[in-house]
Amino acid sequence: MTEQTTTVPVGAADIGVTGLAVMGANLARNFARHGYTVALHNRSRARTDQLVAEHGDEGAFVATETLAELVQSLAVPRRVLIMVKAGAPVDAVIDQLVPLLDEGDIVIDAGNSHYEDTRRREAALAEKGLHFVGVGVSGGEEGALHGPAIMPGGPEKSYEALGPMLEKISAQFEGEPCCAWVGTDGAGHYVKMVHNGIEYADMQVIGEAYDLLRRVGGLEPAEQAEVFTAWNQTDLASYLIEITAEVLAQVDAATGRPLVDVIVDEAGQKGTGRWTAISGLDVGSPVAAIAESVFARSLSSQRAVREVARETLAAGVDEEAQRAPQDTDTFVEDVRQALFASKLVAYAQGMDMLAAAAEEYGWSLDLGTIASLWRDGCIIRADLLDVIMQAFGGRDTSRHPAPGTRAPGQPLNLLFAPEFAQAIAEALPAWRRVVGTAVAAGVPVPVFSSALAYYDGLRADRLPAALVQGQRDYFGAHTYLRVDREGSFHTLWSGDRTEVDGEGVPVVMPQPTEGDPTQD
Ligand code: 6PG
Repeated sequence: MTEQTTTVPVGAADIGVTGLAVMGANLARNFARHGYTVALHNRSRARTDQLVAEHGDEGAFVATETLAELVQSLAVPRRVLIMVKAGAPVDAVIDQLVPLLDEGDIVIDAGNSHYEDTRRREAALAEKGLHFVGVGVSGGEEGALHGPAIMPGGPEKSYEALGPMLEKISAQFEGEPCCAWVGTDGAGHYVKMVHNGIEYADMQVIGEAYDLLRRVGGLEPAEQAEVFTAWNQTDLASYLIEITAEVLAQVDAATGRPLVDVIVDEAGQKGTGRWTAISGLDVGSPVAAIAESVFARSLSSQRAVREVARETLAAGVDEEAQRAPQDTDTFVEDVRQALFASKLVAYAQGMDMLAAAAEEYGWSLDLGTIASLWRDGCIIRADLLDVIMQAFGGRDTSRHPAPGTRAPGQPLNLLFAPEFAQAIAEALPAWRRVVGTAVAAGVPVPVFSSALAYYDGLRADRLPAALVQGQRDYFGAHTYLRVDREGSFHTLWSGDRTEVDGEGVPVVMPQPTEGDPTQD
């Protein structure tokens, strides 16, 4: 610790927040509103002063000039929350902070950091006796102020000093905080990343529904606002459906047109969805619906290419196919069911990758508890999340299944939970009709169709992967397994095409036994 150099009260504040752009400022205010004394720091002092001037009456703030002052003002163990842009700025703040801290102090990164960075930082700070906690925070600016969903990782021990504070400022769902320690080192940021991957898919399927209702169903944005408002009373009820209705109802003041029609159709992204898709590939979890939603944003951004494509490429669609095959109400209900089923698949994929990552990184992730954190406060909050939580055995913050295992009774895949298997079975006819209609009409539905392909792939008796294995063996001697015998095998494709085992020993075919019905 450095000597005291200023007049800020020493050891008086419960938590320090550095980085006072909107998210940091709102989290700081949220802590203060819950009775905590919050020390404030920002690279430029003006933001600190502005926060105190505008919101000083909301609670107890200690304005500080430097990180040294911020640290001095904190009670022990010191809790310093960093809310700066992910990447190098986080490392820069950590480098300045570390020499000022003592063993047992806690550094919290509440930004959208990549989990590998968090793992690296956690290991580096642990060597110095410091706790580094990567915390996923969801809910946007409003959530940060009024109660976000909070997904803390880091050393479990740090949760004793930090958890109660985070739980207090988090959203509450039926009396339970949307906050719980999720696992060691980067687990918190990983869970938040997957939340964002699901968020991307959820937004994209809503977009696909809108596109179909517009281009095939002929419903204008204002009419669709009513449809989405009605859908919000069904099992689709969620924050994203609710705000979709509001966006679609919005009329542009300048032109009098629906706002959605004057917004450029190019979706931005800061990277968390892309990270989710990449990590899905890394841990071997087929998060195709999530990845498709990221690709859909990328494609939307290729505006120059799209412009040429519009002029150059044929549609191959006849006019008839561009009209809804059923009456409007039936079509709307079909689309609703397709949306629900596709959304469920995206959640199933997100949950599957969490389980795969737990095994890969040695985390003990409880899927029921993680789903419980998303029931309120976050962007994907939805009635469905309570049902998903139940499907994974409910919330139990003391349940820490060994990495790579599920707690007893948890389904291997979310879709296997009886209520979801049933719900999908009911939605299937509509889901298939909608994907078929979209394909015939030339309306792209990458996530609707990819989710359906995942579902069909999961439940297929036989996949063409057998043929792929044959091809791999042909050109690369990669070997294959057989359905009827243990071990790996290779066919001598460029030789006499007999089969050898993994050691290259010719396989002697068992002679067919007399009367064996499987043999000619
Ligand atoms: C949240 C949001 C938040 C966010 C991201 C995603 O959970 O509060 O996910 O983290 O809006 O920045 O934004 P992009 O769509 O720009 O990637």
